[in-house]
Amino acid sequence: MMAVMRAAADLRFSERHLLGIETLKPWAIQELLDLADGYVELNRQPEKKRPLLRGLTQINLFFEPSTRTQTSFELAGKRLSADVVNMAVRTSAMQKGETLIDTAVTLNAMHPDVLVVRHEHSGAVALLARHVECAVINAGDGRHEHPTQALVDALTIRRRTGRLEGLVVAICGDVMHSRVARSNILLLAAMGARVRLVAPPTLVPTDVALYGVEVAHDMADGLDGVDIVMVLRLQLERMEGSFLPSVREYFHRYGLTREKLARAKPDALVMHPGPMNRGVEIDGTLADDIERSAILDQVELGVAVRMAVLEALTRELREAA
Ligand code: NCD
Repeated sequence: MMAVMRAAADLRFSERHLLGIETLKPWAIQELLDLADGYVELNRQPEKKRPLLRGLTQINLFFEPSTRTQTSFELAGKRLSADVVNMAVRTSAMQKGETLIDTAVTLNAMHPDVLVVRHEHSGAVALLARHVECAVINAGDGRHEHPTQALVDALTIRRRTGRLEGLVVAICGDVMHSRVARSNILLLAAMGARVRLVAPPTLVPTDVALYGVEVAHDMADGLDGVDIVMVLRLQLERMEGSFLPSVREYFHRYGLTREKLARAKPDALVMHPGPMNRGVEIDGTLADDIERSAILDQVELGVAVRMAVLEALTRELREAA
């Protein structure tokens, strides 16, 4: 636990933006997870509202489709009493040729306090953050990072198993195109867990050696003795050309089934960030088995984690007011 102890009592989350896990220290990750833990109970009460972000404006700017992430950011902002605006990108001036930077500058002129941004290009959210004065949260940029999803996954694991340190986590499937995988690899390594990527050779990132993870190309080897099995969606929209012989073949070799899961620890937890394709990367009945699968926990905790991130990023602003 030494690694996550804070260096000084007055150390606390003071980042201006949340653009990725890469820049976060272990104690900052722990602080966000602890804050989020406190919101889980609140979210189960009939009265879920707190006045913390009253008067602040949050704009959600999603250039890619989203169900879980956008809804949970909207609920998180509303539960903390922020004024939340969902910008409909498809009907915005972006469709008329306005650049990302012009959109950022335009929104900035309306004095938002938080911008939550999802974009199909890696690095686009960081670029946008350089042109606005408010806090920016990366809700997924291309294949790069999806920091709040990794925090959700870490909180899910921590609440189910009581720890992160020392666990062996298999991340299975389309690692190459997955920002969720990248953020999870960074977070789990920072918190002392061991990561094993399990994927066909064509779906392992070429720079995998940089991450200090184990790699297996076969589910039997990859899942052997693991504590956690994270399954990823095949990101067909990010694939140019064919990375796979066929989806049927993929399910046969890499789709998570009870038989393949039998190689993991007897109580190993199954996770998926969603949206999942049943019968492609995971067997539908296994995904629905609440004894083994934490997929709906991940969705539930998504709101709590985003409340925690909103709280941490607006702290200085609120204290200065
Ligand atoms: C993921 C995403 O958009 O990166 N979904 C999510 O946010 N829960 C994963 C995916 O699209 O497969």
